[in-house]
Amino acid sequence: MKSIVEQSHDFLLPCLHQGAICIDATLGHGKDAAFFLSHKVKKVYGFEIQETVLAKTIEVLAKSNFYGILAGHEMMKKYISEPIDAIIFNFGYCPGEDQTITTLPTTSLAAVKQALQLLKIKGRMVLVMYPHEQGQNEAKLIEGYLQQLDHHLFYIEKSYQLNQHNSPYLLKIERIK
Ligand SMILES: C[S@@+](CC[C@H](N)C(=O)[O-])C[C@H]1O[C@@H](n2cnc3c(N)ncnc32)[C@H](O)[C@@H]1O
Repeated sequence: MKSIVEQSHDFLLPCLHQGAICIDATLGHGKDAAFFLSHKVKKVYGFEIQETVLAKTIEVLAKSNFYGILAGHEMMKKYISEPIDAIIFNFGYCPGEDQTITTLPTTSLAAVKQALQLLKIKGRMVLVMYPHEQGQNEAKLIEGYLQQLDHHLFYIEKSYQLNQHNSPYLLKIERIK
């Protein structure tokens, strides 16, 4: 069985072509950005609020088509106005870094709303959710918002493991029109 991260990447794969513009909304160590870049896309934006983490990741990725942005993803529309093919959010804290710095419900929801507005028709977005104690409010808030979106505009699927309590899960979104 593929890991949750591999499953999130599989969902975005059909959107990754030569002209694709992508966003890694929670850059961290850049594994998701590296996945985009490995598919020879046109441009990848990465948002991160920790300066030291961002600097390390820019060095590791070392690609001219990667644009690391030191800002919260809730500022996304200030930095990006072009339509986007693929977006990933991987909520929570960055393993190996300061675990007190984590994504937060209200800023995460603000960012998801902006990301939906930037998504192209047929573009895809995936949210990796962690419904443990810290992430529960964030998950509830975001799901509550997504649940009431017009199903003619967005297809939204929740994919989770039935037999493991509080395991991470995916919210997969495709813009229909
Ligand atoms: C689960 S980690 C991401 C893992 C990452 N995708 C990787 O492959 O390493 C979440 C990251 O989001 C960052 N973060 C927290 N709040 C943020 C915000 N408002 N905007 C952007 N990034 C944020 C954290 O600093 C952390 O590095």
